[in-house]
Amino acid sequence: MVIEMSLKRIGVVTAGGDAPGMNAAIRSVVRSAIHYGLEVIGFERGYAGLIRGETRTLKARSVSGIINLGGTILKTARCNEMKTPEGIEKAAETLKEYRIEGLVAIGGDGTFRGASELYRVSGVPVIGVPATIDNDVYGTDTTIGFDTAVNTALSAIDKIRDTATSHERIFVVEVMGRERGFLALEVGLAGGAEIILLPEVQFDMENVCQKVRSAREAGKTSEIIVMAEGAGDSREVVKCISEKTGYQVRLTVLGYIQRGGIPTAKSRILASQFGYHAVELLLNGEKKRMVGIKDGRIHSIDLDQSWKIRKELDLEKYKLAGILSE
Ligand code: F6P
Repeated sequence: MVIEMSLKRIGVVTAGGDAPGMNAAIRSVVRSAIHYGLEVIGFERGYAGLIRGETRTLKARSVSGIINLGGTILKTARCNEMKTPEGIEKAAETLKEYRIEGLVAIGGDGTFRGASELYRVSGVPVIGVPATIDNDVYGTDTTIGFDTAVNTALSAIDKIRDTATSHERIFVVEVMGRERGFLALEVGLAGGAEIILLPEVQFDMENVCQKVRSAREAGKTSEIIVMAEGAGDSREVVKCISEKTGYQVRLTVLGYIQRGGIPTAKSRILASQFGYHAVELLLNGEKKRMVGIKDGRIHSIDLDQSWKIRKELDLEKYKLAGILSE
């Protein structure tokens, strides 16, 4: 590693929707930085706190006992002001005021868009660490929190399966994913869902009902339909299936329980690796990168690519889920 000797103080911020493992990432950034002789300032409440200068000095002991906690000790927020030139300008001033020479931004594509702008205006190097349960960030096979959210949703589906079987009912289970269906696809495949509805794959209700009828003809007595939040109105789907097929249909919206909880080992390990690598990139003099994992190896890409390029869904998995549910 080429150590950037001039680097003395870095900042860390968590922004956008929280994800289990963000705390493990903060811990990793703080302890890696301290290991290399750097000071760390934490910005609270996402970009809102960065704009307002809400800070906290982070020492090695400040991050004790957090590797196993969901949420983020720095807190987070959705911040519209960061989408404006004035907001970016104010955030750049805060970085100057606190003599921040590198910033690690932990979050999703919106966070990275803001971080890219911030670099352009402030000249302060920024490194993105992908953490979102949506897993919708280009340049990384998976994001911090995704594995935890998949397992949280899966354990709920396993429970729902019990009552669906007993009552011979159809359950529509809505999982998070306002724009993308990564979570729904993973959960649907792992949960043995009969039908998976995604924003990326067009569907018509007649077809969905036909699949349900065929499942019953093939001897099934209950079905689980996993639906991404962004695939449509789940209440409408329930109403339509019930009217067209005559079967009993129930809806469960899993909602925010998918964003909380104890991070899985996978989420914690990924967070630990990403945090360390982010600090390493700053020490190497990198200016604007996002860390990621590709085929099991930690790597980095230009930060702009992470939010400008659309990540493709693995449609082979979708096909497989269909075959295995027959
Ligand atoms: O964290 C991403 C996400 O979970 C989306 O799937 C969801 O639609 C969104 O956050 C809702 O978050 P909020 O209510 O915080 O805007």
